[in-house]
Amino acid sequence: MGRLIELEATGPRKLEPDDIDDEKGDVAVCQCGLSDSFPFCDGSHRRTRDEADGEIYVYEDGERRVLEELETADE
Ligand code: FES
Repeated sequence: MGRLIELEATGPRKLEPDDIDDEKGDVAVCQCGLSDSFPFCDGSHRRTRDEADGEIYVYEDGERRVLEELETADE
């Protein structure tokens, strides 16, 4: 499975001591691309649990859909 994620940042986000979770004592970095608190994990990755191998998903406006065809500039 894969996901098309649209990001607008053009630079890095420096982590600060305040970014550490007071309860857990750690920093969880989002790797799924769906977090509303990106670059930090907010639990949104749970929405990906039933994604199927071989499919590409688009998450948009609270909805998820399977991309039928992926067209690239090379094609
Ligand atoms: S890994 Fe993306 S929200 Fe948790």
